[in-house]
Amino acid sequence: MTANEIRSKYIDFFRKRKHKEILPAPIVPPEDPTTLFTSSGMQQLVPFLKGEPHPMGKRLVDSQPCFRAEDIDEIGDNRHTTFFEMLGNWSLGDYFKIRQLKWFFEFLTDKDKGIGLQPDRLYVTVFSGDENHKVIKKNGEMPALGPDVESINIWRELLNFNPNIPVPDGEEGFDPKVKIYTYSAKENWWSRAGVPEDMPPGEIGGPDSEVFYDLGAELGIHEKSPFKNQPCHLNCDCGRFLEIGNSVFMQYEKQKGSYFKELPKKNVDFGGGLERIAAASQNKQDIFQTDLFTPVIKAIEQASDKKYEGKFKVSMRVIADHLRAATFMIAQGIEPSNKIQGYVVRRLLRRAAVKMHTLKGGLTPVPGFQGICYEVIRQYGGVYFEIAKAREVVGRVLVQEMDKFAKSLDRGLKVIEKQPPEKIDARFAFDLFQTYGFPFEITQELVALRGKTIEKAEFDRAFKKHQQLSRKASAGMFKGGLADQSEATIKLHTATHLIHQSLRKVLGSHVRQEGSNITAERLRFDFSHPKALTDAEIKKVENLINQKIKENLPVHKTIEDKDEALKSGALAFFKETYPDKVSVYTIGKNPKTNWFSKELCGGPHLKSTGEIGSIKITKQQSIGTGIRRIYAILDSRK
Ligand code: SER
Repeated sequence: MTANEIRSKYIDFFRKRKHKEILPAPIVPPEDPTTLFTSSGMQQLVPFLKGEPHPMGKRLVDSQPCFRAEDIDEIGDNRHTTFFEMLGNWSLGDYFKIRQLKWFFEFLTDKDKGIGLQPDRLYVTVFSGDENHKVIKKNGEMPALGPDVESINIWRELLNFNPNIPVPDGEEGFDPKVKIYTYSAKENWWSRAGVPEDMPPGEIGGPDSEVFYDLGAELGIHEKSPFKNQPCHLNCDCGRFLEIGNSVFMQYEKQKGSYFKELPKKNVDFGGGLERIAAASQNKQDIFQTDLFTPVIKAIEQASDKKYEGKFKVSMRVIADHLRAATFMIAQGIEPSNKIQGYVVRRLLRRAAVKMHTLKGGLTPVPGFQGICYEVIRQYGGVYFEIAKAREVVGRVLVQEMDKFAKSLDRGLKVIEKQPPEKIDARFAFDLFQTYGFPFEITQELVALRGKTIEKAEFDRAFKKHQQLSRKASAGMFKGGLADQSEATIKLHTATHLIHQSLRKVLGSHVRQEGSNITAERLRFDFSHPKALTDAEIKKVENLINQKIKENLPVHKTIEDKDEALKSGALAFFKETYPDKVSVYTIGKNPKTNWFSKELCGGPHLKSTGEIGSIKITKQQSIGTGIRRIYAILDSRK
C-alpha cells in the first residue's frame, strides 16, 4: 500500500468512527511562543486536552507534519528523522483505553478496513508505574501512579495472549512468545517535557502504550548492530523493532512537587509515524526505502552520482531528511537566518550541502539541491496545499542560500586544508564560526575528514568567552539598544514596540525582531520577512502605528514569570537570555484582556502612546537573507 493510501485510509477509518478531520498546524506554531516547532500532533490541542471544548467536537483526526530539532544529530539509522508525518487521533473526554487500543489494532491488522499487517509481527508495551509520584484523587486519596493493568488486560484479549503467562519487564529481554512488556516512565509515559519529574506544574501527560513491528529475527539486525552484546528488546536501539504507534492516555496535570491531578476529562492522544507504518506495510527494512523517500533518494543519487548502498546510505538519509524538513519550513515562511528557527533551516541546508560534498568527493559546489526539494514539493503538494504553492519561494531561497554557502564553504575548506593538524582545535572551530558562519557541527564533520576531532565542550567554552567579552564591550550601552535616555529616544523606543506589532499585524506573525537601535534622531528596526515591503504595506504599517498613537493607549509595566509572560503572548527578542522574572511592557486599554502590544523589555517607556505625536517610516532595506531593516522618525509636520 502506498503511503498516500495509508494516510487516507487512516483518516477515513477514524472519520467512519465519528472523528472530524482537523487541519494540521504549521511547522512553526504561530500562537505558541513556548515551543519553536510543532513536534507532535497534540501540540495544537493542549487547551482542549485540558478541558476547553473543541469547536469540531470530541473526536478528532489528522496527519501532522512534525519537526524534532533535538534529533538533528541522530539521523542516519533506519528509522529516525527530524521531519516526519504523524497520524493522530484524539478523544477529548470521550472514548478511552478499550476503544483506542481496539481501533488502532483493527486499523493495523484488518485487510479491508485497515492496512492488513500480520498480527504475529506486532508486540506492545505498557507503563509499569512510578512509586515516586502520587495522584490526588477527588475523594482525597493519594495513591501512587500504578502500572497500567487495564491496558495489559485489553491487549491480552486483542493479541490472544495467554492470561497465565506473566507480563515481564521489557528491559530484561525479548521472547517471541511474549507479546506484552512493561517499561518505566522513560519509555511509557508521555508529556512534552518528558518523564514525570521533568514536568513543570501545569504540564499535561499520562501513561502510554506503544505498538512495535518486528522487522524479523532472520535479518540479523541486532547481531550486526553496535548493540549486539546487550540483550535485544522492544526498545533496543538496534532498530529491529519499529515503534509504529503510541496511544497516550492523557489524563493528568502536573502539580507542584511530585503530585498529579486528574484532568476534568480523560483523553486519548494517539500518534503514529507515517514513515514507519509505511515501512511495516511495504515490508522495508528502513523508512528510506518506502515510497515516501524513494523519489527523493533517487534525486540525491542522480545529483551525487552514487547509489543508495553501503557507506553512502547514512549521508543520503541525512540529506533526504534535512531537505524534506527545510522544504516544509521554507514553504511555510521560515527563511535561513542567524536567529532561532531561521538558524535551524540554515543548519539543515548547510549540513545537507556538506554531506553532498562528501558524497561527491570533490570541493565543487554540488548542483541538484533544487531538484531534490522540487521532488519533495511534487510529492506533498497534493496533501499539504501550501507546499504546492511554494515552489518559487523554495527555489529562490535555495539559490540564494546555497550560493552564499558554497562561497564560504570553499573558502573555509581551503582554510582547513592549510591549517597544520596540530592547530585544528576548538579555537580554530570558533574562528571558522565567526568568519565563515560554519556551525560547529559542520566544522566537526569537515575536520573529521582529516582525522581530527574537536570536543563540543571546548567549543562551548570558546563561545562563552567570546560572549563575555562582547558583553563587556557593550556594557556602556543602555538596555534595549537605546543610545541615550533623552525624551526623543524614549518616544522612539515606545514607537518601536508599536512598529513590531504593526508589522506582525500587516505582514503576518512570522515577523520577529532581529535587532534594534534607537537614537534621538531615528529608530532602526530589523525583522524577519522574506521580501521587500510594498509601498502599500509600508503605508498600512505606518497608519496602524499612528492610529494606536491617536488612541493614546496606556503603557503598563509588570514584573512576570518568564514562562507565564511568554504563554500569554508576550514577544521576546532573545528568549533564552532572560531571567525567570522578567519585566513586561504592555500597550493597551487593559494589560490582561485588551492589549495591542506586549513585550519582554527593560524599558524605559512613555506613560501613553499619545506622547509620541506621530511616526514616519523613512527607509527600508535588506540586510541579509530574509531580514529587513526599516528606519522611522518622529514626524514633526504633525
Ligand atoms: N503525543 C504523542 C507522541 O508524540 C502521541 O501523539 O508520541
